[in-house]
Amino acid sequence: MLRQTELFYGGDYNPEQWSREIIMEDMRLMKQAKVNYVSLNIFGWVNIQPSEDVFDFTFLDEMMELLHKNEIGVDLANGTASPPAWLVKKHPEILPITINGTPSVHGSRQHYCPSNQLYRSYVKRLSEAVAKRYADHPALIMWHINNEYTCHISECYCDSCLAAFRQWLKEKYQTIDELNRCWSTKFWSQSYSERDEIFLPKEMPTFKNPAHQLDYKRFISDQNLALFKLEKEAIRKYSQDIPVMTNLMGLHKHVDGFKFAEEMDVVGWDAYPNPFEEKPYPQFLANDLTRSLKKKPFLVMEQAPSAVNWRAANGAKKPGQMRLWSYEALAHGADGIMFFQWRQSQGGAEKFHSGMVSHNQDPESRLFKEIVQLGEELEQLNELVGTTYVADVAFVFDWENWWALELDAKPSAKINYIKQMRDLYKVFHELNIGVDFVHPSESLDPYKLVISNAQYLVTEDFSTKVKAYVNAGGHFMTTFFSGIVDENDRVYLGGYPGAFKEVLGIYVEEFYPMPLDAKSRIAIGDGTYETETWEEVIHLKGAQAVANFTQGYLAEMPAVTQYKYGKGESYYIGTKLFEAGNRVIIEKILTEADIPSTASEFIQNQSHSISVTCRENQLDNFIFLLNYGQKSETIQLNVSAYSLLDEAIVQDNITIPANDLKILKIPKVR
Ligand code: GAL
Repeated sequence: MLRQTELFYGGDYNPEQWSREIIMEDMRLMKQAKVNYVSLNIFGWVNIQPSEDVFDFTFLDEMMELLHKNEIGVDLANGTASPPAWLVKKHPEILPITINGTPSVHGSRQHYCPSNQLYRSYVKRLSEAVAKRYADHPALIMWHINNEYTCHISECYCDSCLAAFRQWLKEKYQTIDELNRCWSTKFWSQSYSERDEIFLPKEMPTFKNPAHQLDYKRFISDQNLALFKLEKEAIRKYSQDIPVMTNLMGLHKHVDGFKFAEEMDVVGWDAYPNPFEEKPYPQFLANDLTRSLKKKPFLVMEQAPSAVNWRAANGAKKPGQMRLWSYEALAHGADGIMFFQWRQSQGGAEKFHSGMVSHNQDPESRLFKEIVQLGEELEQLNELVGTTYVADVAFVFDWENWWALELDAKPSAKINYIKQMRDLYKVFHELNIGVDFVHPSESLDPYKLVISNAQYLVTEDFSTKVKAYVNAGGHFMTTFFSGIVDENDRVYLGGYPGAFKEVLGIYVEEFYPMPLDAKSRIAIGDGTYETETWEEVIHLKGAQAVANFTQGYLAEMPAVTQYKYGKGESYYIGTKLFEAGNRVIIEKILTEADIPSTASEFIQNQSHSISVTCRENQLDNFIFLLNYGQKSETIQLNVSAYSLLDEAIVQDNITIPANDLKILKIPKVR
């Protein structure tokens, strides 16, 4: 399998849109920019299969040869992301159908139903043909399967899906009685006696059965995964040693990233922060999440060199912003920085999406100069490949919980998994504490502190695991509306949060959600901190109050609690805090759990605007210092270090200009 030795640098390459002359110019410019890796053929289906019975690889052969000659490796797509017009004309039944019963038509992309057996058979044939032809090509480095599953089609209500859903339910529940039990169908007379009485959760008069909806979301993710596996198997028939991957989308709701990652050899995601944001924390978080899917280095498979074309206002990245955000990914474990796309399209829906080469075709443009600069720098940093990101803290991340939490008919419509997680994550990022994400099925033991944010759906297994973890000395922090239901969305009875109340030493009698735009405050010591969304009646059952509510019926009652359980400690936040409140609580926990900021043994003074992270291998620590501030900052060092980009030894201190960064290599003491 892949033994990556260089950081990957390049982008999606769509030469089918260009003349020979421009393609030759591309080779020259790619070499200038130090491009060593491109994704090819992602939307190439009709080029290589212009009609049902004709495969024509002439152009793709030429491109593979040309790239090879120019020492550029290829992430070769099987090309299944956009079915050709002839296929749609012959088999319109492959088209996805909306909740209102409308099928898509040809003319965009991703117009397929993932369950459709016909589509799957064409996909298999195409994938086999591509794999057979290029399996041994020396330019081939990676197989790129399909593209961004469920990016556009995250629901389908066609007959294929209906049949597949009924089969999926049969495999999951075996009997109709078990399905009725797990779906709580005694409610509103929803009981089923035959499988063919069950529909997809289409239009209904009012609230749909939540367990039905949750299973549909699981089903859609599984159907797309099944499609990925089918495409992978078709490739594996001819190519066993080349790694396979698909581009995930970070905080994308509709496919379970952990399940996909199990089937992928390398994980990567497409990163599209909004340039108007100074620090796009959701994207920062997604770097850590993507790396955590395999607990291995990841790839940024796509990012915009500057503007995208799909927001209401598509801001250009400011000078230096693309570079700094690329290093943010590298600092958090990326082994490759790729763009969408190499050359900005002349026509089509994405012509105003930036490319590494812009419409202006000016090699002196700011953007191209930054592209070349980054390529040249990454060439100096190849020793980072394969190094491990250092994290003491883990956030639990669970797609199934995300789906269940945000279904309708909850105590507050303001509950939002990612926004709440982002708010907590931001504090850790600012305090320079490395964060991993763990799936509930993973071990918690490698971490000193585990954060469970809005973890509404919790299995008995996870509840038991948390007790054992804290009992053995771990620190566990969770927030309101966590530990409420099991995997069938059935409430744990006997007081909230059923799955966690023992380990937290509390019991919540009743929720007190706040009006949507209301604010309140909690008191911690002498200070008070603003809250929103949620309050509740917490009874202490061994825990002690760290903070109290201050207003109305709840005044003086506990809002934040802490409990010594076995050798460890657990913490509970019964409201939604803003940054200041989160920071006070998190700093307290970090002190009690004895978690220092990253690299504090090497660095004397941490500065608010410098983001510090660490990657390591057996021999060295690599400390990343990213300056997000508006002025240069000087950091005092306890040790001498080697500054990789400066190619110089630094002693005592190092100055990092605004909007710039340093990477220090510090040998481990042996
Ligand atoms: C991604 C997609 C690319 C391109 C890009 C534009 O979602 O994979 O093909 O469309 O967005 O931002």
